Amino acid sequence: MVKTKVISVANQKGGVGKSTSVYCIGAGLVMEGKKVLLMDVDPQGDLTKMLGLRKPHELPQTLGNVMNDVIGGIPPNGHTEIRHHPEGFDFVPGNRSLTAEDMTELVGTVQQIKRQIHPKLKIGGVFLTMANETNFRKDVVKSVRESYGRHLPILNAVIPATVRLAEISTADKSIFQHEPKGRAADAYRGLVKETVE
Ligand SMILES: Nc1ncnc2c1ncn2[C@@H]1O[C@H](COP(=O)(O)OP(=O)(O)O)[C@@H](O)[C@H]1O
Ligand SMILES: [Mg+2]
Repeated sequence: MVKTKVISVANQKGGVGKSTSVYCIGAGLVMEGKKVLLMDVDPQGDLTKMLGLRKPHELPQTLGNVMNDVIGGIPPNGHTEIRHHPEGFDFVPGNRSLTAEDMTELVGTVQQIKRQIHPKLKIGGVFLTMANETNFRKDVVKSVRESYGRHLPILNAVIPATVRLAEISTADKSIFQHEPKGRAADAYRGLVKETVE
């Protein structure tokens, strides 16, 4: 039987490195031999832009459209919303057709699934990103571990703040193609390993 793992990368805050991480974790999982589907569930479509579709709001087939069709009882037409990326994963673009109501519904559905059929749904781990000299001192990581470690698995990977990573959003490459030998790629490689453990 094929075991599918669903991973969501979440944080209340914007601009903390979620989309960049999803892209790099996805590309890294492919390198680990996994079959990967990325879903852009952000109505801003930032991940979609990073994956090369620069005008997400002009796309006719996105996660939002498909969800609306499903809710409206319209059968999806052969899943043309699923696209292939040169780095070996598939993805479903997102844009503003994915409304706040859709998201509330999605969250509600997840909670229902959790209660009814998937009580094991859990927080897989917390990782730190955009670490620099100011915010990433050993004692900061230590205090995060001490304060939250009992309730949350704090992963070992710490993703540095680097110019190369900032460039990912327009480079049309994940960090593994953009700067494979750099410390950012190393850090994401470590995070990917922890993800498959
Ligand atoms: N580790 C990093 N180092 C430097 N810049 C980063 C890093 N991760 C993300 N960025 C940049 O920070 C901005 C926000 O990142 P993004 O991944 O879009 O965050 P989110 O999805 O949480 O809003 C983008 O411009 C991105 O290029
Ligand atoms: Mg984002």
